[in-house]
Amino acid sequence: MNPSRRKTLALIGGGLVAAAALPAGGFLATRTPHDALRPWARAGGYGEPRRDALSYALLAPSPHNLQPWLAELVGDDGVRLYREPGRRLPETDPQDRQITIGMGCFIELLVLAAGAAGHTAALTLYPEGADGPVAELRFDAADAAADPLFAHVAERRSCKEPFEDRALAAQDRAALAAHARLVTGSGPVAALRALTSAAWEVEAGTARTHRESVDLMRFGRREIEAAPDGIDLGGPMLESLMRVGVLTRDTLLDPDSRAHAQSMEMYREMLAATRAYAVLTSPGNTRADQIAAGRRWMRLDLAAAGRGVALHPVSQCLQEYPEMSAHHARAHDLLAAPGETVQMLGRVGYGPRVAQSPRWALEERMLHG
Ligand SMILES: Cc1cc2nc3c(=O)[nH]c(=O)nc-3n(C[C@H](O)[C@H](O)[C@H](O)COP(=O)(O)O)c2cc1C
Repeated sequence: MNPSRRKTLALIGGGLVAAAALPAGGFLATRTPHDALRPWARAGGYGEPRRDALSYALLAPSPHNLQPWLAELVGDDGVRLYREPGRRLPETDPQDRQITIGMGCFIELLVLAAGAAGHTAALTLYPEGADGPVAELRFDAADAAADPLFAHVAERRSCKEPFEDRALAAQDRAALAAHARLVTGSGPVAALRALTSAAWEVEAGTARTHRESVDLMRFGRREIEAAPDGIDLGGPMLESLMRVGVLTRDTLLDPDSRAHAQSMEMYREMLAATRAYAVLTSPGNTRADQIAAGRRWMRLDLAAAGRGVALHPVSQCLQEYPEMSAHHARAHDLLAAPGETVQMLGRVGYGPRVAQSPRWALEERMLHG
């Protein structure tokens, strides 16, 4: 089957998501949310160093693509970063740990983008304490050397698809092991497959956590263009299912519906098609630890993209709510030393090339435009 015409349903942390079909002309092209994807093409085209760097940074991954960042230009050379208070996941991320990791991903990409344009960006985290801005950066034209990882920013994606049934090549393993711990042994991988699957069943089977994802779904091109964040369900096949009423917010919320059963089955298959995992732990679990984990994940993500390796966060078993506590404990038994926190867990392997995900335009994520 021509991969560019593949009509798949893929599933992500929160439910059913649009497939990764790439634009292939005709009807598909008319259903592509062009405005929602424009930030990928506009990155670096603002003619001002801080805006250019921010326009790359917003291509960073974030939980449920919430893009929780807000940026403000300060003086001639400063950037202040905030977390927008309303952009959070109170059910599945009650402590804002994952949202903070997403801020860390953004910060790393911002620093890398500044560096690629010859600027150092001196960073101060939480300059006014935990309740104030997340970070301040000062840009300085200091002939900084570009980090080669930055070259892969446009290729990076989270690949929410089944991976090929083959082990990571030794060179890929060695390159990625510089950024994260890799789990590749058949026993430990089998244990993580079982754990990620069981944790997924808990999230999808707990009404309030499942609803949190469904509420963030964008059904079809019009909704995606209107709110280019959350879980985008698009493309001709999904939009056809929406038109005939098979795929709606209500059917996804109904555990007895075909849409729900199919989404569960596809998620199980996807999680099973995994031969390796990447893990990030931190000794503590402070906001600074979470930002640092996000920065490390961003580097891993870029390194994977640069090698054509697919990466997909699977966070359910790391989430801090009562129904998940047994799986959270098991994840820590398997992956962390006593006292450590597992900040990120992701599938790693060889997957199909998938489409970029939507983003808000830079202007929409800046205070004062
Ligand atoms: C901290 C964090 C946790 C995430 N957890 C999941 C997850 O559990 N399942 C999933 O499918 N994607 C997860 N993602 C990936 C996001 O859904 C993804 O980054 C977002 O939709 C944007 O897509 P992109 O990464 O392809 O640009 C996570 C991302 C971050 C930063």
